Amino acid sequence: MNLLIINGPNLNLLGTREPEIYGSQTFQEYFDDLQQKFDTVALSYYQSNIEGALIDKLHEARTNFDGVILNAAAYTHTSVAIADAIKAIEIPVIEVHISNTHSREAFRHKSYLSPVVKGVILGFGLKSYDLAIQSFL
Ligand code: DQA
Repeated sequence: MNLLIINGPNLNLLGTREPEIYGSQTFQEYFDDLQQKFDTVALSYYQSNIEGALIDKLHEARTNFDGVILNAAAYTHTSVAIADAIKAIEIPVIEVHISNTHSREAFRHKSYLSPVVKGVILGFGLKSYDLAIQSFL
């Protein structure tokens, strides 16, 4: 199985960004752990701070991957365009968040993506990505 993890804006700073919310591990360290744990899965990783680049990657993914694990970060709460991209591709997309967005500011309670994804996993720290991979298996 080929799975692509896509991270959106500011998630390149995991490890140092608000560690009380997002933890102190870098995503690269965590990704290495995931690859070891799920050694039968071909995992790829992409991160961008640019909305259009995330959309381009979703379009590309439809021919190369069996599914996408997407943390669109702040674009979750604003992006009709990313929601449309998810609707436009046939492969399943799982929305993940590190933090429990519903226990935070009201503007984080709205997700434009949740209605169009296969499922949502949030609030388990970086383990949210691990749970998303398990759901594909
Ligand atoms: C986040 C939650 C978003 O509200 C926030 O903008 C992020 C990260 C999370 O993984 O908890 O950047 O998607």
